[in-house]
Amino acid sequence: MNLPFARCIVILSLIAIHADAHAENATGLTATHLCCENRVDPLGIEDSRPRLSWQVESNERGQRQTAYHILVASTEAELKGDRGNLWDSGKIAGDPTAQIPYAGKPIGEQGVCFWKLKVWDKDNRESAWSATARWTMGLTGTHAWAARWISQTDSSPLPIDRKMLHLPPARYYRRDFAAAKPIRRATVYASALGLYELHLNGQRVSDHFLTPGWSDYLQRAYYNTFDVTALVHSGDNAIGAIVADGWYSGYVGYGLLVGYGPNKVGRCFYGKTPALLAQLEIEYADGSREIIASDPTWKVSDNGPIREADIIMGESFDAQREQPDWCKPGFKAEGWSNAIPAEDNGSTKAVFSDVTGDREVDLGFHLPKKMAAYSGPAVRITREIKAVGPTENKPGVFIYDLGENVAGVIRLKVKGAKGTKVQIRYGEMLHPDGRLMTENLRRARATDYYTLRGDPDGETWSPRFTYHGFQYVELTGLPDKPGIEAVTGLVMHSDTPLTSSFECSDPIANQLFKNIVRTQLANFIDIPTDCPQRDERLGWMGDAQTYVRTATYNADVEAFFTKWMDDVEESQRSFGAYPDYAPYPMAHGEARKSWGTAWTDAGIICPWTIWKVYDDTRLIERHYDSMKRFMEFRMATSPKNLGVSIGNPWGDWLSLGEITPVEFVDACFYAHSTKLMADMAGAIGREVDAKTYGKLLADITAAFNKEYVRPDGSLKIETQTAYVLALSMGLLPPKLIQPASDHLAEMIGKNGFRMATGFLGTKPLLPVLTATGHHDLAVRLFQSRRFPSWGYEVANGATSVWERWDSYTKEDAFGKHNAAMNSFSHYSFGAVCEWMFESLAGIDTDGPGFKHIVLRPGPPSIGSNPDNPPIDWVKAEYDSIHGKIISQWKRANGRFELNVTIPANTTATVYLPAAKGSNLKEGDRAIERNADIQIVGMEGGTVRLNIGSGTYR
Ligand code: BGC
Repeated sequence: MNLPFARCIVILSLIAIHADAHAENATGLTATHLCCENRVDPLGIEDSRPRLSWQVESNERGQRQTAYHILVASTEAELKGDRGNLWDSGKIAGDPTAQIPYAGKPIGEQGVCFWKLKVWDKDNRESAWSATARWTMGLTGTHAWAARWISQTDSSPLPIDRKMLHLPPARYYRRDFAAAKPIRRATVYASALGLYELHLNGQRVSDHFLTPGWSDYLQRAYYNTFDVTALVHSGDNAIGAIVADGWYSGYVGYGLLVGYGPNKVGRCFYGKTPALLAQLEIEYADGSREIIASDPTWKVSDNGPIREADIIMGESFDAQREQPDWCKPGFKAEGWSNAIPAEDNGSTKAVFSDVTGDREVDLGFHLPKKMAAYSGPAVRITREIKAVGPTENKPGVFIYDLGENVAGVIRLKVKGAKGTKVQIRYGEMLHPDGRLMTENLRRARATDYYTLRGDPDGETWSPRFTYHGFQYVELTGLPDKPGIEAVTGLVMHSDTPLTSSFECSDPIANQLFKNIVRTQLANFIDIPTDCPQRDERLGWMGDAQTYVRTATYNADVEAFFTKWMDDVEESQRSFGAYPDYAPYPMAHGEARKSWGTAWTDAGIICPWTIWKVYDDTRLIERHYDSMKRFMEFRMATSPKNLGVSIGNPWGDWLSLGEITPVEFVDACFYAHSTKLMADMAGAIGREVDAKTYGKLLADITAAFNKEYVRPDGSLKIETQTAYVLALSMGLLPPKLIQPASDHLAEMIGKNGFRMATGFLGTKPLLPVLTATGHHDLAVRLFQSRRFPSWGYEVANGATSVWERWDSYTKEDAFGKHNAAMNSFSHYSFGAVCEWMFESLAGIDTDGPGFKHIVLRPGPPSIGSNPDNPPIDWVKAEYDSIHGKIISQWKRANGRFELNVTIPANTTATVYLPAAKGSNLKEGDRAIERNADIQIVGMEGGTVRLNIGSGTYR
């Protein structure tokens, strides 16, 4: 990188900051943030050798861990006595703090493990024991499920009419049970083909939504584990569950729109009738155990208040039918029927249609081949938003504005006469005349209904089995104008811990950052979806691979992607390709083309990225055979080592004005996947494979150069995306990198300093420009407010990232795309965020897991941007698996100042803009005289320093 701002005087001040040192931790290291399988105190772990991780903290510079000692015990009392009856690792020399496999005695099924550790610092000083953490083991293994899959007797015909919606009521299941003795522990394991919400003694068992998550239910069903010790008591109890269609038998994606699925009705992709599986394990104080499991003794009713419950279409609740005590002991289940074993509903044959043709399927119950503990973070409501409004443009139509485009549901609070039916519609935008815009939702009804029971004190309700992508909420059906309190926004998403913050001198960029994070959360709902509002919400692979690196900056997504990679592998086509989206209930695109270049490569790019960021080699091992099969497919379909166009031809999807041939794009992605596969093979010790893929990469590169590259560095494909892909994927020989990137910069200039790139070209565009000496141009594009740009969206009121550059334009408003597809919450173009962290704030790693950090702040040159004042300060933070990294730089009065923090047990290389002869300081001291810093090089206006952990100015 050739940062052209060497003219300014650089004062690098580095002062040890001890100000907030805690007295009790004046020296040495403390172990904190204990995690098991990437989660805090997880329940229901399946792996017999779960991986333990922690962070070490210190107030001293240059601190590192030199040894650790882990204790794992089966009771808290054992651990308190410093006895690890399951595992006492002894003192182990070394500095790793992440992904340490448990290596103690075999832990029985449902076992409880308490653990803690101590660490030794660089001077061999020993820490105190950490706080205690825990995990529990799941149900899989030798212990068979005692529970049976149960259903309601279902004699309804399979829907055949595409013109109307088929929205069955949710089913309520219950049974009473007595717990004879004092209880030590109670755990419940639950799953559904469909969605379930579990209750015990009148209370919801957890705050999770959309459980047990989406999977290919024929291959696996997830189960969740909850500790319900506090909810079960000696004496009479009741357990119950509400079960809805969910992804199993509800509407999925655009199935209805295009006529896919059984009878082409867009629903019942996996089966016709939802089923429940629940197993409560009670451990009494005297050591005896009792199991309360779903079986035909449970009662079931579909006469409850939830009259419709569909993820995409919405939910309908009739409060007049409420039976508040339905899950309390002693409830008279009058009119309820007996549940039946799910298989007793028999088979339901139907013709299933999608682009691969018509085939007969049986939509009766099929036992999932495998039960798997849910490995992702739970979907939760994490935030409430106060609405503004309502406006009443048309009598009786009340519209509320949340001020931001999110995904989730609302809490409705209304008062009125019994039987009043409120219709609740959701939209991302309003028409210019103030009407709710729903055209872009396509066939997603995205409407909820609430019928009042007529409580004089008012009534409150939230849907449970649906979610919407929305900013605006429209209420109709109320006789009087409701108050502001009638609508509260509830933001729902997979609860991935947030890990980033970003601010700089350009307010547009700051709003963009918020929009990116908001859009990420709106689309990380069990799987990475493309959009949360229309009839789609699928795990589109091209979007996921584009965005995964950004996702890792903004949240801890290791567990989230761990779950989804299983869905990806289970969706792999028999011939080796990864499909267009995962899970893959129906084939789309062109007939018999179930994959597309760059979409299919997500099966390689995502695990590679997770490994790089979290040092997670187990994810590689878990999917290695599948990834190899994918590479074999790629090799078999690319005999000339060049790209092919035999898949779905999305290519540089949603580019503006330039089309890059799909064969070219494919050659680049083939090379890219091969390179990443070679890296991953090396990372898990598959040296022979690493060599094979390395050789293949050389062959692809040679073929690519022969086919597309001219001796002067220009390409035979004259698009911005062609240059960006060739450069970012390392396909050009070193001597052609500069001419090619100069040519790219020229093309952008000739295009009026505007991008012409789509999903694939935009993500690497700014990184390529920065890496090849065109950082000022990258910053200029980043800060642009001209169409098409991120700034144009923000300047036009975006609170989320739009699907297309022209989702809205001043000239055409929404007119161009609303009829087809126009989402205002699509994360792919938000992938610029990785550049914001890596190249603007300058926070990156060159090895797995941020153990060695690269800090390369990227101020643009003074006066380099004729459109907008170039950014002159940035403050960014990122919580890596080793702890918080801070990069804060500013340029003012001829001085460049950098404040950095890197966590204990890491080191960093810092690249500073500084010409020869600059006055380089750490705090008040000349840098050369600082023992905490080594100057390792000076080239091209940049000084390279090595530092140990700590805070420096
Ligand atoms: C989705 C995209 C996806 C694409 C495939 C769209 O409908 O919303 O984000 O990648 O299809 O071209």
